[in-house]
Amino acid sequence: MKKTIVTIDGPAGAGKTTISKLLSQSLGCVYVDTGSLYRGVAYEIDRQKINWENDDVLAGFIDSLDLNFENKDKELVLVSSGKDITDLIRTPQISMLASATSAKPRIRAALLDIQKNIAAKQDAVFEGRDMGTVVFPDAEYKFFLFADLAIRAQRRYNEMDECSKDIDHIKSQMATRDDNDSQRKSAPLKAASDAIKIDSTFLTIDQVVDKMVGIMSKS
Ligand code: DC
Repeated sequence: MKKTIVTIDGPAGAGKTTISKLLSQSLGCVYVDTGSLYRGVAYEIDRQKINWENDDVLAGFIDSLDLNFENKDKELVLVSSGKDITDLIRTPQISMLASATSAKPRIRAALLDIQKNIAAKQDAVFEGRDMGTVVFPDAEYKFFLFADLAIRAQRRYNEMDECSKDIDHIKSQMATRDDNDSQRKSAPLKAASDAIKIDSTFLTIDQVVDKMVGIMSKS
């Protein structure tokens, strides 16, 4: 039987992660953070000091990659060569490297099956950049979540706990990522033509989730 797939795309800091998690809980299905796959690749590139701009080196690296999600306490954790790396991929450095390396079509192709295999087995909420456009163009519900850059940077700032955090730096890194992610040739960040766009600038998390649930229950 065809599975129900919900896609939520959008730039960093628009609220995708929290909202996708809450929506998946209210639907009783799994939540898949596809950005963590790109972060996992970036983490391994960084750890193994891979010269990823060289196509032959990159091809060899991808062949050796052993990355996948595993179920743990009803959540998906990211496992690389048997090691749970879920908590190691959230640094600003990995964010930037994931954004740069995810422009490589070879990397995107290598991660496609992982995403499609999950969707073949169960209903799911998928969060990412190209969910509604490339990976799941036939998804039942597609949302594109966005917000003003200043608000997104402020949200990230509020989440961080180090005293050295710097709002201007966060904002400029976010703008660079927005640019990389939306200007790349391969599966750029953009709303699918049939996606419902939601501006979260002046909405709370709960208001966005309610809006999505409302839209889904009407159709
Ligand atoms: O969602 P995130 O911030 O964890 O994603 C990190 C980077 O991974 C993002 O800057 C671009 C890339 N990415 C992608 O290219 N396609 C996706 N479906 C998800 C993330």
